[in-house]
Amino acid sequence: MKTIVILALLPFVSLAALADKFEGLALSPPMGWNSWNTFGCDIDEGLIKTIADKMVASGMRDAGYQYINIDDCWHGERDENGFIQADKTRFPSGIKALADYVHSKGLKLGIYSDAGNKTCGGRPGSNGHEYQDAIQYARWGIDYLKYDWCNTENLSAPGAYRTMRDALAAAGRPVVLSICEWGDNKPWLWGKEMGHLWRTTGDIINCWDCEVDHGSWSSWGILRILDMQDGLRQYAGPDHWNDPDMMEVGNGMSEHEDRAHFSIWAMLAAPLIAGNDLRSMSKSTQKILTHSEVIAVNQDALGVQAFKYKTQNDVEIWFKPLQDKQWAMMILNRGDKKAGVSFDWRNENVVDPDFPGNGQFYTAGFANSRYKIFDLWANKSAGTTKSSLRVSVEPHAVKLYRLEKITSEIH
Ligand code: GLA
Repeated sequence: MKTIVILALLPFVSLAALADKFEGLALSPPMGWNSWNTFGCDIDEGLIKTIADKMVASGMRDAGYQYINIDDCWHGERDENGFIQADKTRFPSGIKALADYVHSKGLKLGIYSDAGNKTCGGRPGSNGHEYQDAIQYARWGIDYLKYDWCNTENLSAPGAYRTMRDALAAAGRPVVLSICEWGDNKPWLWGKEMGHLWRTTGDIINCWDCEVDHGSWSSWGILRILDMQDGLRQYAGPDHWNDPDMMEVGNGMSEHEDRAHFSIWAMLAAPLIAGNDLRSMSKSTQKILTHSEVIAVNQDALGVQAFKYKTQNDVEIWFKPLQDKQWAMMILNRGDKKAGVSFDWRNENVVDPDFPGNGQFYTAGFANSRYKIFDLWANKSAGTTKSSLRVSVEPHAVKLYRLEKITSEIH
C-alpha cells in the first residue's frame, strides 16, 4: 500500500522540482512605476489608469518604462473558494479590466502580495494561497509581482519565495518576481533562482542622508541606501538584480539630489521604478526620468554594477564597465560644500575588482588608451582623456560621464 502511495506521488514531486523562474524577463533592470512612495494605501483604478496615460504622454514609456505596479492595499476579501478579489469600492471594474487598459497602452501591469498571512498594510497575504493567487494573477493578466515579507514569523525566506516562484510557473503566465524581504535573509545568495530582483535594504525615503526611525524598522535616505550596497555587486547581473528600492525622484529633494539619486541608481544597475506622482511632475523631474543616455548606462547589456574606485573627503569616484569596452564614471559629492576634483587619467589604474569579462577583469588602461568623454547631464562632449579632468561638483550632486575608447596603445 505504502509503495503505491509513493509511486502515485512521484510525478508531482518531479514536476515541482522542474519548476523554474521564467527566464529572460529582466535581462536589463526592470523599469516602471509603483504606487507606494507617493500614494501608500490611497489608490484606486482611476489613479492607476491616469498614471498609465501619463507614462505614455510624458515620454516615459518610450524611454523604456514598462511596468505600472500597484503596491499594497488593492485587496478586498477572498471569495468563498478562497480566490482573492480586488477592493470593490476602489477597483469596481476589477483588475482584469485594469490590466486590459494598461496593456492597451503598450504597458504591463504589476501587483503586490506578501508571503505572510497579511501584507504590511494588513490586507490578505498569500500564505497558504500561493497557487490560487498565482492562478488569479494569470487570469487577470498580471506581468509583475512584488512579494513582500511582513507577518512571516516561522517561514523560511528561500522556501516562501520558492513556493511563489513554483506557483507562478504552474499558473503558466510569465511574471517578473520581485523579492521584497529587505535584505534580511541575504537574498543575493539565493534570490537568483527564485526571482528577477531582490530588495537589498529597508524602505527608501526622500532625503539625501538620513535615517527615519519608525520603532521596529527604519527608512533610509539615498546615501544610506547606497552605502548598504557594499559587497553586493558580484551577485547581480542580467535577470537577477540587486534592488535598492523604488525611486524618490520628484518627491521633494533638490534637483541636484534627484539627478544624483537617478545617476546612482543608473550606476548600480538598479531597477528604475519611479515613485512620484506622474500627473503633476515638473519638467525637470520628467527630464531626469527620461534622460536616454543615463538610462542607457543603467540598461547596458553587460549588466555589471559600478564599483567605488576612490574616495577623497566627501567625493567618491565610481566606475561601471559597459559593453564595447566603454565605461561610465560618476563623481559624487556627498558633502555640503562645492568640491573641486582633478583626475589625472595617466596615473589611474581602473580595473574592475570583481568581474572578469571574457576571462580578464575589465580594465580601462587609461595610461595607454585614449577615451572620448561625454558629459551625460550636460549633454555634451567633454574632451578626451589626454589631459586631466578638472571639475567642480556642486554639493549633493554628481558629474556623470561616458567614456568611449578611441585609441589603444598610445605612449
Ligand atoms: C513594505 C515594502 C514597501 C511597501 C510596503 C507596503 O514596507 O518594503 O516597499 O511595499 O511594505 O505596505
